[in-house]
Amino acid sequence: MADNTEHPVYGSTSETAPTERQMPSKVTVPSLVARKGTAKKILCLTAYDYPTARLVDEAGFDLILVGDSMANVVLGHASTLKISLDQIISATRAVKRAADRPLVVADMPFGTYHVSPADTASNALRLIREGGAQAVKLEGGEARAHLVRTLVDADIPVMGHIGLLPQSVNARGGYRVQGKTAEGARQLLNDALALEEAGVFAIVLEGVPANVAERISERLTVPTIGIGAGGGCDGQILVFHDVMGLSLGPAPKFVKRYANVAEIMRTALGELVDDMRTGDFPAEEHTYPTHEELPDDWDYGI
Ligand code: KIV
Repeated sequence: MADNTEHPVYGSTSETAPTERQMPSKVTVPSLVARKGTAKKILCLTAYDYPTARLVDEAGFDLILVGDSMANVVLGHASTLKISLDQIISATRAVKRAADRPLVVADMPFGTYHVSPADTASNALRLIREGGAQAVKLEGGEARAHLVRTLVDADIPVMGHIGLLPQSVNARGGYRVQGKTAEGARQLLNDALALEEAGVFAIVLEGVPANVAERISERLTVPTIGIGAGGGCDGQILVFHDVMGLSLGPAPKFVKRYANVAEIMRTALGELVDDMRTGDFPAEEHTYPTHEELPDDWDYGI
């Protein structure tokens, strides 16, 4: 008799059917902008795959960024410069399959908006149409405002990103906190105002002194999302692997680790290796039975 029992293979994607899961109201671009000036902080985290996006959604985050930090923390590159548009699109599709409530924003990789406005728009459109992102993020201030305008005119919501810009590592000669002088702080404010004028719905402030980030946040009508920018922003964002202790290297100063997942995995993998070596795995409960005893001549002498 055929065994019709459905066995999951390679882990199942759902503990509960989507219809049984609670579906609180989805976060939209207008609902995020409406948070400005309220006490309700905007909670953001990166994710690059289905299971982590699912956990981030379940935890109650408002926004998931499919960041180009994936180049570092998932793909093992030394900088964010090497990730391609196709890689971000593929990751965004996985995240979108998992994320019911949060707004999903996809990063525009290096090189995809360092081109004409028309090519910038077609690259951003791929993130929306193929990846399923609801918005895109690009790095840079005043000099990129015309590109923001092009995208916004094409109905593509844009998140700005100023301060420490990982994609400018070569141009700036490293990763440096920005806005440490009055002139630097003024430049950041100019950048923020130019992006706001161009139509961004939010701006990431990365690697900016807390007092400067707070003052810029007060001047803007759109929310600011801080990373290494203190508590005066309208929201916070961090890299999933940094927070979870899965990024293997030392964490930046602004990161607070909430778990040491690498250590948990190390221990588990060590136990699995031992069990495979000794034969303790697989045990009886990990095997499938036959429906009848196999006779001695079961193979007809083949
Ligand atoms: O790529 C990324 O993860 C980011 C955030 C850290 C803001 O740009």
